[in-house]
Amino acid sequence: MQKFAAQTKKCGKIIGFVPTMGYLHQGHLSLARQAKKDADIVIMSIFVNPAQFGPKDDFKKYPRNLKQDCRLAKKAGVDIIFYPAANEMYPENYQTCVEVVELSKPLCGRSRPGHFKGVTTVVVKLFNIVKPDIAYFGQKDAQQAVIIKQMVSDLNMDLKIKVMPIIREPGGLAASSRNAYFSSSQRKDALVLKKALQEAVLMIKSDEKYEKNIIKAMKNIINSVSSSMIDYIAIADAKTLKPAKHLKGDILIALAVKIGKTRLIDNVQVHI
Ligand code: PAF
Repeated sequence: MQKFAAQTKKCGKIIGFVPTMGYLHQGHLSLARQAKKDADIVIMSIFVNPAQFGPKDDFKKYPRNLKQDCRLAKKAGVDIIFYPAANEMYPENYQTCVEVVELSKPLCGRSRPGHFKGVTTVVVKLFNIVKPDIAYFGQKDAQQAVIIKQMVSDLNMDLKIKVMPIIREPGGLAASSRNAYFSSSQRKDALVLKKALQEAVLMIKSDEKYEKNIIKAMKNIINSVSSSMIDYIAIADAKTLKPAKHLKGDILIALAVKIGKTRLIDNVQVHI
């Protein structure tokens, strides 16, 4: 992969890169389609990265289907799939990690310690292997996108990061590989995430000044389904991820909620 990437760059070709953990959905495919528009060669990685899963996370049962992924990726314009094995990425005696310290602490960082360190480490490795000019990430993982941008800036990495909008299923559920875990009733219950975010935006637009009132209204919506368990609801500055005390500027409203055993994240960004 490294040799091919170096050769491609030598020819002056632009490499667009879509890092994924596979089990592709419309969100991933929208990134690939954008890459096809921007770049000469589109490379997608499929690697379920053990370093970003905690001991209680779903690493073992994370959905995988390489054959289907290859078919979907090809249709969306992907030229090459990079599919390394875990012992190639992390051979014995592997020692190095990359961590974006402060941005990795709040929101998902609180309930998934070490998760973002695993993400940034593997993303740096993938960037070094694939040598992209542009890399594509989804806004659904809003904190991940902010962290990656910070890392690229902090480490003077020579590539552009493009963050693409959330893709939603017809009812409003954000596309996610983990949606595959849902029964049909859980899938219906999961719509409370989007409903809660919509209510928050409505309240902000109606001039609600207090974040605690917004969070209370969101909690009521989510708690209206018995399968839900809130991990966090945050109203934060979209760049620093610090709590947005005054509802002003670019605000990220983000949440993580378990529906049954499946943890979902979703968010919306508003400018006030
Ligand atoms: O967003 C994901 O799917 C993963 O976190 C990523 C960026 C592919 C790293 O494993």
